[in-house]
Amino acid sequence: MAIHVIENGKVFHLQTAHSSYQIGVDAYGYLLHLWYGSRIPAEPLLDLVCKADIGFSGNPYEADLDRTTSPDTLPMEFAGYGCGDFRESSIAFLFPDGSKAADLRYQSYEVLSGTVELPGLPSAYDTPEEPCETLILTLQEKASPVTVDLIYGVYEQQDVITRSVRVTNHGQEKILLDRCLSCSMDFMEGELDMITFSGRHIMERTPERVPVTHARSEICSLRGMSSHQENPALILCRPETDETHGDCYGLAFVYSGSFMAGAQMDQRGQTRVNMGLHPEQFCWRLQPEETFYTPQVVITYSGEGFDTLSQQFHHMVKEHICRGEWVHKRRPVLINSWEAAYFHFNREKILELGRCAKELGVEMLVLDDGWFGKREDDFSGLGDWTENQQKLGGSLCSLAEEIHKLGLKFGLWVEPEMISEDSDLYRAHPDWALTVPDRKPIRARYQLVLDMSREEVVEYLYQNLCRLLDDAPIDYIKWDFNRSVCDVFSRAEKAFQGETAHRWMLGTYSLLARLTARYPKLLLETCSGGGGRFDLGMMCYSPQIWCSDNTDAVCRMQIQYGTSFFYPTSTMASHVSVCPNHQTGRTVPLETRFNVAMTGAFGYEMDFTRLTEEEKQAIREQIETYNELEPILREGSYHRLTRPGGRWMSWEFLTEKAEKALVFAVVTESEGNAVPIRIHPRGLDPEKRYFCAELNRVCSGQTWIQAGILVDPTPSQYESKRFLLQVVK
Ligand code: GLA
Repeated sequence: MAIHVIENGKVFHLQTAHSSYQIGVDAYGYLLHLWYGSRIPAEPLLDLVCKADIGFSGNPYEADLDRTTSPDTLPMEFAGYGCGDFRESSIAFLFPDGSKAADLRYQSYEVLSGTVELPGLPSAYDTPEEPCETLILTLQEKASPVTVDLIYGVYEQQDVITRSVRVTNHGQEKILLDRCLSCSMDFMEGELDMITFSGRHIMERTPERVPVTHARSEICSLRGMSSHQENPALILCRPETDETHGDCYGLAFVYSGSFMAGAQMDQRGQTRVNMGLHPEQFCWRLQPEETFYTPQVVITYSGEGFDTLSQQFHHMVKEHICRGEWVHKRRPVLINSWEAAYFHFNREKILELGRCAKELGVEMLVLDDGWFGKREDDFSGLGDWTENQQKLGGSLCSLAEEIHKLGLKFGLWVEPEMISEDSDLYRAHPDWALTVPDRKPIRARYQLVLDMSREEVVEYLYQNLCRLLDDAPIDYIKWDFNRSVCDVFSRAEKAFQGETAHRWMLGTYSLLARLTARYPKLLLETCSGGGGRFDLGMMCYSPQIWCSDNTDAVCRMQIQYGTSFFYPTSTMASHVSVCPNHQTGRTVPLETRFNVAMTGAFGYEMDFTRLTEEEKQAIREQIETYNELEPILREGSYHRLTRPGGRWMSWEFLTEKAEKALVFAVVTESEGNAVPIRIHPRGLDPEKRYFCAELNRVCSGQTWIQAGILVDPTPSQYESKRFLLQVVK
């Protein structure tokens, strides 16, 4: 049993294999956050709350002479606005009389088996093997007929808790929900660091670690996308926590639009962490009897450092977030036409690319941007999802069939949520683009964003994408999204602009949900100029995401390193491209590009028709090697053995029973008289003996772990090595 209700229904103790989470109700009905951390018995901790008469922290009216109870100092589980808690609030209502408040008091609880559906939103699912139990705590707004349900999903063996919120207006009058986060927790003690994953286009998800102080540390996106700049996930940890030691907590948002998350220490040394929809782009009308659901946050705790935290997230993503038949299936090795030809191709070029690809052992050809409407550059064509038959030398169907005849699968690029002003769609429906009346819109990549909050827009896209998928044998779609959203104004009748940003996201999700339901066999890869929507929301529909537009292997190692804290390598699409690299101008050996790319959903993105015989032979051998290693790369656990900034980077894949370990090392900086590189693999069985063919050496797991692998001779800059350790039977 994962949910314990104790103290006559006043304390709720969520118990997982290695963690405990406790919430309690105090004498005034405030819901308090009492514990989240290592597993402890289900014993009430209400008396750990330190009450005191603190100046300028007021008391609820009913406390009368008791000056020690203040919402401002209590460790709150979900903080209401304007009722004596002056810290960052979780929720605020605007009532018809103009008042703004949210005074939440505990009312009742419910325990359910299974998960609670969040209508219209992606969220985690459970399975018979790995079930979820749900606790719902209902809070009543003190002066109005509104209830707030805090929903906790407990995945006991996975050490995961999900949180979301459901708000219902039981009254007769419309109220406005002015802010509504998904999760908040007040940690009662301890110094904490916060790690976030920031970046930019072509350099996403670089970890940044700062101590949590009285100055609020916040990440957010107001771009209508989870963004390249701040990933919607954060870690809180003790200052001493590292990969293999120490307490840490991970929070990741199951959402792909604007968000806010942060942490701040209060006057009593408590730390509040929270995450949810960005309040600046949110104000929701709640009509009588209407309910609003927030997106979900996935939370996990590890007492053994970041490696374990990541393993828990990776498992959660593979078993409870990603859906469909491709999650655990071998993905086809692909060639993508983008860096091979950009917009400049014709039928013959694509077929030639396909023929070369087949010869090398590639399994799928992906036709990227430029195949539809009037699209010879990025100035026009978005929205017109009909093939350019002149350019393709016939129909898309006939091209796809010819690719199939070569023995390859066929994939296609689309960017559904966008519209070019120079398109038939825009000429027919200029009001379908997000623009603000009397203002010129912001253009980015010369394109505008469709108003996905409108049903007719979603319907148009659904019909057009279905037509494409029905008319041609398409095995894979790359769904791109190449600008941030602004001019967030819907021209739909009766639109309420405070809702537009979130309704926009719900529109995209409804389109993704309908398409993935109708085409369950389709392999869907999402993308947003690379990794601008690399989040758990998108992963509910697509098991892989183009990790970054940066294909430089050295940068990619860093990007994949940062990405791996929350997301498994199976979600990171990663390709070998040419050198000098198109984004950075760097030249890296082909073998290193291969080693880095095979760490994700693997493919190539280069003009195969221009390869030398030597390169062709090398790629043929790479694909053979990949085919041998693919099972461990797909299902093995991934471990970061170093971090960026050193002279080399190293990482490891380990099979479930630790029978094989695949270890990589790449030299990132050369030096004179190089100091030897020693790598210490993780997770081997200390008692078993492992053979490494590359070193022709057998020794115990214990020795491999402790004494390490000597990389000798030390490779020079950007060279790499790979070691496969296998248990000797
Ligand atoms: C984005 C993608 C690229 C490519 C181009 C096409 O930048 O990330 O991989 O598909 O769009 O325009």
